[in-house]
Amino acid sequence: MEQNFVIAVDRYNLIPTALVSAAAPSNIALVKYWGKRENQIPANPSVSFTLTESRTTTAVRFTKGDGKVKVRLDGEDKPGFAPKIEDFINRIASYSPIVRLYDWDINTSNTFPHSSGIASSASGMAALAGCLVDFEEICGICFKGTEKIERQSFMARLGSGSACRSVYPGVVVWGETDALEGSSNLYGVPARNVNDVFAGFHDTILLIESGVKRVSSTAGHGLMHKNVFAEQRFAQAHENTKKILQLLENDNIEAVGKIIEQEALSLHAMMLTSETPFILMQPNTLSVLHAVWDYRAEHEKNLYFTLDAGANVHLLYPEAEAEQIQSWIEENLAKYCQDGKMIHDRVAIK
Ligand code: DP6
Repeated sequence: MEQNFVIAVDRYNLIPTALVSAAAPSNIALVKYWGKRENQIPANPSVSFTLTESRTTTAVRFTKGDGKVKVRLDGEDKPGFAPKIEDFINRIASYSPIVRLYDWDINTSNTFPHSSGIASSASGMAALAGCLVDFEEICGICFKGTEKIERQSFMARLGSGSACRSVYPGVVVWGETDALEGSSNLYGVPARNVNDVFAGFHDTILLIESGVKRVSSTAGHGLMHKNVFAEQRFAQAHENTKKILQLLENDNIEAVGKIIEQEALSLHAMMLTSETPFILMQPNTLSVLHAVWDYRAEHEKNLYFTLDAGANVHLLYPEAEAEQIQSWIEENLAKYCQDGKMIHDRVAIK
């Protein structure tokens, strides 16, 4: 199957240079990917909402050379970003042999503030993979049907697992599951039959803590190899994937919300129970979680939280209740955010 993604070097027309650009949004997982095998194969399936506002736009000037990488963020040189991209190039070279025959001059920018604690790897790697497949097309590779977007997702996965879900709008599934025909460990696929109530869901991201995380996601995935609860966790994620995909077809927001919160807390429970334990939540993260539970106990509202591998909190709620919920968030939760900062994002429909 992976063999399908290998393109022989003699199929490319090796033009001297080309400039390509691509944009991709971030995504927030509802069922979490946490734990992986060799070559970026996930230990369990995951399900996400692709967002709208939090995006990365990247332009790459490919010039015949030997795979040298130069990166700028908002016009500023970022030599520190190069090793991650060089690793990416090494991982994809057996599928796209031209990547080492060109130098990569990369210019990238994010809509969200740098060091806001929002991971740029999902949107960043999806955008970079978008640049690569566009460049391959310019070099004469002809993609048919869904081949191009699947290739972008496949490449993005090799850069950062969660990035493979950022190539499609709406609800995206990555990892083999009986619940979705065509699902794959190699690339993301869009979920079918998502109820309108979930399309256009809101995601307010509370920026609790900025700066570099104490433990990277990649290191966190690695710690799952020795976590004594790993097998139960993978089984839970399989089960939750099945349940949530079924539930997303209907309008039972509460049942979906329950799974989303369980997933967030299970993810962090894995961190707490690692052989080398670590905690990414901050006191303000916990204050927000309690505030959300109290709010739900007092008002019959569909407001649910999820967490990524950090202290920030994503608050999910439907459009029909957005006005009231958003005012409540702004009035009551800004005090838990660094400098009062939050980002109002939404699920990308198209
Ligand atoms: C908690 O995709 O950032 O956000 O594949 O090592 O780059 P790498 O990890 P990454 O992990 C994301 C972890 C998560 C859950 C998720 O997005 O599914």
